[in-house]
Amino acid sequence: MKTIIEPFKIKSVEPIYFTNFRERKEILKNAHYNPFLIHARDVIIDLLTDSGTSAMSSAQWAGIMLGDESYAGADSFFKFESAVKKITGLPIVIPTHQGRAAEKILFSVLGGPGKTVLSNTLFDTTRANVEFTGAEGLDLVCAEGKQPGVIADFKGNIDLEALESAIQRLGNQNIPGVVITITNNSGGGQPVSMANIEGAKAICLRHGIPLIIDACRFAENCYFIKMREPGYQEESVLAIAQKLFSFADMVTMSAKKDAFANIGGFLALREEQLAQQFRNLLIVTEGFPTYGGLAGRDLEAIAQGLEEIVNEDYLRYRIRSIEYIGDKLTSAGVPLVLPTGGHAVYLDAAAFLPHISKDQYPGQALACALYLHGGIRGVEIGSVMFGKYAKDGSLISPPLELVRLAIPRRVYTQSHMDYVTEVIADVYHHRHTIRGMKITYEAPVLRHFTAHFDML
Ligand code: F0G
Repeated sequence: MKTIIEPFKIKSVEPIYFTNFRERKEILKNAHYNPFLIHARDVIIDLLTDSGTSAMSSAQWAGIMLGDESYAGADSFFKFESAVKKITGLPIVIPTHQGRAAEKILFSVLGGPGKTVLSNTLFDTTRANVEFTGAEGLDLVCAEGKQPGVIADFKGNIDLEALESAIQRLGNQNIPGVVITITNNSGGGQPVSMANIEGAKAICLRHGIPLIIDACRFAENCYFIKMREPGYQEESVLAIAQKLFSFADMVTMSAKKDAFANIGGFLALREEQLAQQFRNLLIVTEGFPTYGGLAGRDLEAIAQGLEEIVNEDYLRYRIRSIEYIGDKLTSAGVPLVLPTGGHAVYLDAAAFLPHISKDQYPGQALACALYLHGGIRGVEIGSVMFGKYAKDGSLISPPLELVRLAIPRRVYTQSHMDYVTEVIADVYHHRHTIRGMKITYEAPVLRHFTAHFDML
């Protein structure tokens, strides 16, 4: 088979500024060994997130000029609304300035003390918005989803038996919704199968609980369904998405991922009475229901992005480009979450740096080493991000110590990724020289964004 090439030509470029090892040593020290505190200009390849970092198409930029900035009833809103309806089939569409704003509105109405939201895995902001209302979040990802080295097609699936028994245990009146995150970002960008969503919907229906889809990366998920789930090979990704959303009572989406937009999101649903309550909150925090915290030009960019994301030449390239990095790293012996997911490569920092104990933050040490050796910025997803302290002050670690390298959409070429894999392979070769880290400053919540570290 021939190389799967980027299905676009480059019309506009932005420079990368190069730094050398000595400069990066100083930059890293000044950033207190926290990649979030490094100036973006000092990063050579920025893989901190795939969110809001997409390259927009010429058609999206053209849409920017068409943006109708009317306060109410703007033309751009109707384009946006019809693009969302075409994919989701949901009749009510409420724009928000990003995904977490949709989550905030949703759970302000559905959440509250005594309630539990069940999920395959709630993304951090979703969990934060659930917990902010006094409710709890409970993740029920399938067994394969918890094992980085186990190869399986749909490691993002929710465990349907666990879902049924959690509902029996907690009582359906205490469960305001079941959230399926596609793809499962916190679990390695792994997809969820159509059969699993259908199964979850059947359980929800039996207990009168709404099924909510967190659709940030729906197109990547639907492409995996096309490739891997029997019966979908001849279907278009659009048709697969339409079927998938037919099981949803509500959808939240951050348009900063699979809509190629730099900002934006939405909440979509079927029930008008709930929508009234959502809109009332929207007006207080986001804006009038036809713009919801976005400029008309943003709504145009999202509408066009949603047309482009279901293009299968693009999706074939997108999924292959992530797998390509995974293949190269695997052949260099580098431990990572397999198979690779839709939007990122997750290095297994605990296996990469077995000489560094969890309370010396192997993920953070690896993230710093990647920056130091190659100017690559990734993010630790492990004991820094999710660690908690026991009463005696000892660290309670999450099950996995990962470093996520999220790949922005349509931004980097194959040679950028060759460089990334060369740097990682080099760092792996010298892994014994990498030292652990200690925290010297931390905020009480979401400490990973602002914490300071020192090398041990
Ligand atoms: N849900 C999922 C699955 C996400 O990955 C994100 C954001 C959100 C919701 C929130 O959307 O940022 O528009 O408010 N994920 C980004 C990331 C931040 O880097 O994975 P938002």
